[in-house]
Amino acid sequence: MGEKLLIAGNWKMHKTPQETREYFERFLPLVEGLEGVEILVCPPFVDLPAAAEAVAGSGVKVGGQNCHYEKEGPYTGEVSPRMLRAVGCEFVILGHSERRRLFGETDEVVNKKVVSALEEGLRVILCVGETLEERESGLTFTVVETQLKLGLSGVEDRLEMVEVAYEPVWAIGTGVAARPEDAEEVHRFIYSVLEKMNPEGAKRVRVLYGGSVKPENAEALLSQPSVKGVLVGGASLKPESFAAIAAAGARLARLK
Ligand code: PGA
Repeated sequence: MGEKLLIAGNWKMHKTPQETREYFERFLPLVEGLEGVEILVCPPFVDLPAAAEAVAGSGVKVGGQNCHYEKEGPYTGEVSPRMLRAVGCEFVILGHSERRRLFGETDEVVNKKVVSALEEGLRVILCVGETLEERESGLTFTVVETQLKLGLSGVEDRLEMVEVAYEPVWAIGTGVAARPEDAEEVHRFIYSVLEKMNPEGAKRVRVLYGGSVKPENAEALLSQPSVKGVLVGGASLKPESFAAIAAAGARLARLK
């Protein structure tokens, strides 16, 4: 068996610290002993200390959903990579389509964040993906390639600290996931772009699929050869459904 599949949960703006503690009380026993998967939960910033305390010793990791690119300074409302590290984060999600669309993050800003997070020793999950309009105009590969190249500019030699999440915007929160074979096609393309940047480093990157992943479709998506994990939004909010997805990953990891 090769590298572990990464089963990552993105809670977005859900749950208080108390709800976080309750979640892990139910979740951890459900995933105890699962092999072949690395499990990551990315809660809101204020929940991170509670989450880090709850997962201590369990093997489950915690991460941030975003960060600023400066270490500290007059940036009201922002949180730095150094602060994420200090509260126990090993990962940070960057360039999520909601950050790009609702908070105006450009590829240049995302790149600054990627560089800064890597400098601080965080592993980065860089999100890329096309809108429905872009897909229908045949622009999927162009958009994904641009987001990858600009997002990873200057850190091509550090790919071993990077994971990529392919999240077609039209599949996020809609209940309509990409068909497994369509995801596989884009994942292969992503690997081909990464290989051109850094042939050795590309092999260490896990390309995750995200967008309406649920217990019912996780197995079909994860069974694709180039799908090395999933980034789960809505279905990560319930301990039972996220654990079911992790269990599907553990079953498939044996076959990969
Ligand atoms: P979803 O979100 O699973 O609720 O579609 C995925 C994501 O945005 O990371």
